[in-house]
Amino acid sequence: MDKQSNKTVPGALREGALQDKTIVVTGGGTGLGRAMSTYFLQLGARVVIASRKIAVLETAAAEMAAETGGQVLPIACDVRDITQVEHLLSRSLQTFGRVDALVNNAAGNFIAPTERLSANAFSTVIDIVLKGTANCTLAFGKHWIAERQPASILNMITTYAFTGSGYVTPSAAAKGGVLALTRSLAAEWGKYGIRSNAIAPGPFPTKGAWERLLPGDLAQQFDFKDYVPLKRVGDHQELANLAAFLLSDFAGYINGETITIDGGEWLQGAGQFNRLAAIPDTLWDALEQQTRSAKGS
Ligand code: HXC
Ligand code: NAP
Repeated sequence: MDKQSNKTVPGALREGALQDKTIVVTGGGTGLGRAMSTYFLQLGARVVIASRKIAVLETAAAEMAAETGGQVLPIACDVRDITQVEHLLSRSLQTFGRVDALVNNAAGNFIAPTERLSANAFSTVIDIVLKGTANCTLAFGKHWIAERQPASILNMITTYAFTGSGYVTPSAAAKGGVLALTRSLAAEWGKYGIRSNAIAPGPFPTKGAWERLLPGDLAQQFDFKDYVPLKRVGDHQELANLAAFLLSDFAGYINGETITIDGGEWLQGAGQFNRLAAIPDTLWDALEQQTRSAKGS
């Protein structure tokens, strides 16, 4: 499932669009992080992938380097621990000399009724998603400001950062916090040439997300594509295209923006009358007559 990339979706950017940029991607060894990192490499970037499981990162790095011919450095880092995050920054600088962008993609999540969560369960998700993003942003941001170096931060949130969502409340609270962080720093750090943006994906099947959010036969019972106006889930390359654009110089005036990429899913859930999609076409003639006849009443 992690290698979802559908060859029918082409890369969107021109060759060399990220040439000579060094990009650090947390959670870059799996799922969407891996898809983005692979595309960044194809576009000429040097990439650092960081997460807790060094064996997973090393295997992914070897495969990605073989596939793209690019330079990719795996570094073990638990984003909850500021010391490990500072080590991630210093090793990236030692190896590549500079870092131009940070993608805060690492996350932890699982479904559960909120009243079943222990305090530690709630904090665990908040610590990875919100505190981990804050740790990385602080460490890298301080470095860029001290070096007077323009840079770019890209945060992976979700559409329920706008709406909230039951059964994933720690994740919703944390992603809502990351959205606020994105907008706050766009305003505050713009003066240093540091852009902060976010992507809010809808459903993009990955092993990590699906095992924790749709375990067992839930994937059949709650098939995400049924809730998407476009009637399909996202392709990893579609997300990678957007991420590469936002980090590229083509997006140099985009700052503080969140781009939703969900096939229209969250708006379909929000619009009061969108459920009328369930009305068969054959009924609309009769309904039209009834609504027209209401004119005189
Ligand atoms: C209730 C649970 C639980 C569950 C864990 N806990 N799983 N409680 N229901 N299913 C509790 C534990 O009992 C413990 O609390 C606390 O949470 C910490 O659990 P650990 O296993 O010790 O934590 P850790 O090893 O740090 O693992 C973190 C994790 C795990 C979040 C629980 O799932 C993980 O490593 N996830 C990383 C990858 C991931 O989640 N990917 C999906 C991202 S998808 P106690 O009180 O017992 O100590 C995503 C998509 C959004 O964000 C939108 C999709 C459409
Ligand atoms: P995934 O493959 O499970 O990715 C999560 C990554 O985070 C893993 O590589 C994991 O690696 C890393 N990670 C977890 N805890 C960490 C920690 N404490 N320190 C460092 N790294 C840690 O899931 P995904 O679906 O690709 O998700 C990627 C991002 O997209 C997440 O931010 C997620 O919220 C967002 N998103 C996904 C979807 C979707 O449909 N897939 C939808 C909306 C948003 P280790 O286990 O090695 O640490």
